[in-house]
Amino acid sequence: MEIIKVKDMDELGRKAAEIVVDSIKEIENPVLGLATGSTPEKLYANLIDKCKAGEITFEQAVTFNLDEYVGLSNDDPQSYRYYMDHHLFNGIDIKKQNTHLLDGEAKDLEKECRSFEQLMKKTGEMDLQILGLGLNGHIAFNEPGTSFDARTHIVDLDDSTIEANSRFFEHKEDVPTQALTMGIGTIIEAKKILLLVQGEKKADILKKVLYGDVTEEVPASILQRHPNVVLVTDIDI
Ligand code: GLP
Repeated sequence: MEIIKVKDMDELGRKAAEIVVDSIKEIENPVLGLATGSTPEKLYANLIDKCKAGEITFEQAVTFNLDEYVGLSNDDPQSYRYYMDHHLFNGIDIKKQNTHLLDGEAKDLEKECRSFEQLMKKTGEMDLQILGLGLNGHIAFNEPGTSFDARTHIVDLDDSTIEANSRFFEHKEDVPTQALTMGIGTIIEAKKILLLVQGEKKADILKKVLYGDVTEEVPASILQRHPNVVLVTDIDI
């Protein structure tokens, strides 16, 4: 794993954007995996600037997001579709029909997960997957204990995840208790992974992820076995 140490969130956003641009600019039809949360916000702002400056185009890009809450509509400001439109898609030249998020309002959620997997397979290998890290070591919404082989599936969110994500909602009770998420088996097939981790509160879990046992109890520890991971972090490790 390549580790890039940055001094703060601004530098993390700039560095991550450079890596995204360098990783996909030579690819004719890049396939990108995208994450939500506070950590990638500056990355997306930098990508918008770079796109406007003509340094990168997303005209031929296809994106798949890691996860989505169950039960929130696309125009709910807490849905990940809303987040992606507002933090990235509306500011770049991507074709909206090439941006794929799981539909958390689908009538048949299992079918939705299967269709998402099929669409990813049809599209071809993921060139670059962006990942954040949950406080409990989750990646996407793969909570501790999830099989490393899991494909896209429905999850019951951990209480600790509901608590952590409640900062985005008015009341903790408003946080959905379920989500749809790419599985670890799906994520790990990406050719390259860009892991972004920011803030001292994640120092302990990041050390476990990097130097602890590779165990399903720490979902992100699987990244130790991936041949092409770049970590950008402001944490001393
Ligand atoms: C959520 C998302 C993850 C994200 C994590 C960390 O639970 N499902 O994909 O990586 O939170 O978010 P943050 O960057 O806000 O700490």
